[in-house]
Amino acid sequence: MPRRRVRSIEEQRLLEKAKRYLPGGTLGNTRFADDVAFVVKAGQGSKVVDMSGNEYIDYLLGSGPMILGHAHPAVVTAVREYLERGSTYFTLNEPAIQLAEAICQAVPCAEKIRFCSTGSEATFFALRTARTFTKKDKILKFEGGYHGSHDYALMSSSPNVPKDFPQAVPDSAGIPRVLEDQVLIAPFNDLDTTSAIIERHHHELGGVIVEPFQRIITPRPGFLPGLREVTQRFAIPLIFDEVVTGFRLAWGGAQEYYGVVPDLAAFGKIIGGGYPLSAVVGRADMMEAFNPDREVSGDFIAQTGTLNGNPVAAVAGLATLQRLKQDGTYRQLFSTGRALHQGLTGLLKQYGIPGQVVGEDPLFDVVFTDGPVNDYRGVLTQNRELLRRFNSELLTRGILKGSSKMYMSVAHTSTDVEQTLAAVQESFAVMTNA
Ligand SMILES: Cc1ncc(COP(=O)(O)O)c(C=O)c1O
Repeated sequence: MPRRRVRSIEEQRLLEKAKRYLPGGTLGNTRFADDVAFVVKAGQGSKVVDMSGNEYIDYLLGSGPMILGHAHPAVVTAVREYLERGSTYFTLNEPAIQLAEAICQAVPCAEKIRFCSTGSEATFFALRTARTFTKKDKILKFEGGYHGSHDYALMSSSPNVPKDFPQAVPDSAGIPRVLEDQVLIAPFNDLDTTSAIIERHHHELGGVIVEPFQRIITPRPGFLPGLREVTQRFAIPLIFDEVVTGFRLAWGGAQEYYGVVPDLAAFGKIIGGGYPLSAVVGRADMMEAFNPDREVSGDFIAQTGTLNGNPVAAVAGLATLQRLKQDGTYRQLFSTGRALHQGLTGLLKQYGIPGQVVGEDPLFDVVFTDGPVNDYRGVLTQNRELLRRFNSELLTRGILKGSSKMYMSVAHTSTDVEQTLAAVQESFAVMTNA
């Protein structure tokens, strides 16, 4: 596979401008070393192209929303047709209502839905909903679980030096110290320790939030059912963060895939079809707190957002869901993912690299350790230098992925998988010779 071509003057200038105006020259945490940095010009199907004309097979997929691939014709047509009718109205519109119905019909726990714009907002308001219902303040989350970038979420998501459970370690500057006491941390996949923390703190625990498939770590058999049982026993709302898993692991999300139904769930990414849209969904009695009729009752959740239920995003989301609902779509997604998953596993073995592929077929990555990867501490044991090297070797060979995730799309083909595995093989060869 050809190596990266020379960077055009136009792209070089844009990269310099980005450094001049954007802190760190980036839009968030995703950035690449100077020699491989690029600016996207366009995306089409499973590929993105940079300003210099280099093509990448894309496993970043906009951090997950683009499950149909970029610029899917059905989504483009739906959005283009809608744009003539306006952009946003801050009040009821047909696409938002249709999308509400589609999500509530698909997702087992979803009796009612409140739209917002980002996954962070969805988890933030899901937590507020749980606290409103229980009238208790603390929340429990899992070490290594990521729920966005608000103050409650950024606790022990990626601690370099984890503390003893259930103490939280803030992941960001600027978070009020007082919040550290409001968040209890438990180990994912360890039901005994988690249950003990819940039993000890149930009188002050307003909700439990979990990524049912944490980053790329699958739940052990019995973990999610056990979590459901213990939260139910103490009447503590269980929140599934389905921002990543929603409409990805299955039409009904992780709750359908793993067969455990929470009280509330947060959705984002896929439901907006690549546009800003997210949602809190859940039990009607809990969701009723969003009803403005409750405003005087004291049990009312104040949640308003300029773009709540934005019609353009809703149209894109609806077109995406319609395509996903077609017969055989998930079968295809899983089988393309499985081919790459298995190919990677084979190559790790062939090159004798200590590592394993962790995840489900629509979303996984290589974790460079031979030890068990059932929780965040398992991931922490990996050789991070090997991972960094892997990502950058792949990028120079035209394979774009997240720092620790590979998202599959319906647009990825068997040829994409073959080319990717060829690039992985070259990368492993270079990495093992060094
Ligand atoms: C599981 C999970 N929850 C919440 C979020 C936050 O979503 P957003 O980036 O839209 O705020 C993310 C983002 O990647 C996520 O992976």
